Amino acid sequence: MKALCWHGTGDIRCETVPDPTIEDARDVIIKVTSCAICGSDLHLYGGFVPGMKSGDVMGHETMGEVVAVGPGAAHKLKVGDRVVVPFVMSCGECRQCKWENYSLCERSNPNGALQIPQIGYQTAGLFGYSHTYGGFAGGQAEYLRVPYADVGPIKVPDGLTDDQVLFLSDIFPTGYMAAENANIQRGDTVLVFGCGPVGQFAIRSAFMLGAERVIAVDRVPERLALAAQSGAETLDYTAGELQDRIRSMTGGLGPDSVIEAVGLESHGEGGGIAGMVETLQTKLTSTERPYAFQQAVLACRPGGTISLPGVFIANVTTPMGAFVGKGLTLKSGQTHVQKYLKPLMQKIVDGEIDPSFLITHKIGLEDGPDAYKMFQEKKDGCIKVVINPFA
Ligand SMILES: NC(=O)c1ccc[n+]([C@@H]2O[C@H](COP(=O)([O-])OP(=O)(O)OC[C@H]3O[C@@H](n4cnc5c(N)ncnc54)[C@H](O)[C@@H]3O)[C@@H](O)[C@H]2O)c1
Ligand SMILES: [Zn+2]
Ligand SMILES: [Zn+2]
Repeated sequence: MKALCWHGTGDIRCETVPDPTIEDARDVIIKVTSCAICGSDLHLYGGFVPGMKSGDVMGHETMGEVVAVGPGAAHKLKVGDRVVVPFVMSCGECRQCKWENYSLCERSNPNGALQIPQIGYQTAGLFGYSHTYGGFAGGQAEYLRVPYADVGPIKVPDGLTDDQVLFLSDIFPTGYMAAENANIQRGDTVLVFGCGPVGQFAIRSAFMLGAERVIAVDRVPERLALAAQSGAETLDYTAGELQDRIRSMTGGLGPDSVIEAVGLESHGEGGGIAGMVETLQTKLTSTERPYAFQQAVLACRPGGTISLPGVFIANVTTPMGAFVGKGLTLKSGQTHVQKYLKPLMQKIVDGEIDPSFLITHKIGLEDGPDAYKMFQEKKDGCIKVVINPFA
């Protein structure tokens, strides 16, 4: 089959690899009808994530049609079912799964021992996200092996298109959980750093959960424009002293909560010589950049909450004085996707949200390598790329 394979920093190739097969009783195989490139894939593309090997198949936002079913998944799925697959794998039986902390599943990562030196304990296996997270092949491919298929995938009701439901695999639940983690009370003002796919769903989810105002921060004009279409007030962080502008927009009080949907590849002021130096440094060293997180801590009002869906890998510098001085709360984590599938599918069925608003590009697998570059460089108005392997 054809698949998008990682071969090092900035090197994704469309190659022919062996078809997946059932390896465990709880597996299914799906024929991939749609998959997408995520901001988290950019961290692999940028060389920030350890444990990648040349030839690894990328992708963790996937849906398709079931073509083979292991005996341990047959009570849930059958050949021909159309399913969306969560990017986290969960056994459904361990302590963390019972607590609905699906991304912290204690059993689904067979390479969990590799995580212990890095973060102390093991967490869930992830599709297409390094050998540290299990070494599972990803879904930017014609076919995908889905472990724990009796727990993860959700069947798609008739009448919904791939474009409407694909993002249940990751970014819609991620934006929603980010808003839940922000402890939003009716009437609150929520500040969102980053207007990429996760930020866009966080903005819409914040309104769903009762925010009165959402202020969205980015520097990419079309991303700010899309945030404004969702009802957010927007701030270009390169256009003047950011903290002063946030204080003045909130009557000197500051936002009640801040969602950081940027992660480790955050830009500083951007542009000019500083921007060029920053880009060069990143290319040479793959150093994590916590600028948006630092700004988020400074921006939040005393007693407020920071929600951090943005991904970090190792250590970054944090303004702990501001954090402790203001008595802030921080909630973070990989998304417990399985917990959100049914309620968010219902919102799509009810017409409360149509996630396809985000898609700017639709391509075939062979155009994947160019699409990674375009998405990373935020060129050609790119906000979200969907790949249709068989279109
Ligand atoms: N927690 C999870 O389970 C989960 C799931 C999916 C994605 N993520 C993470 O969420 C983050 C965002 O993902 P995405 O798909 O939206 O990525 P993206 O790269 O498309 O979006 C990031 C946005 O942040 C903006 N940005 C950069 N520096 C900024 C700054 N200083 N202030 C404000 N905005 C800034 C960029 O211009 C860009 O629009 C990534 O770190 C990704 O890994 C986490
Ligand atoms: Zn993702
Ligand atoms: Zn589990």
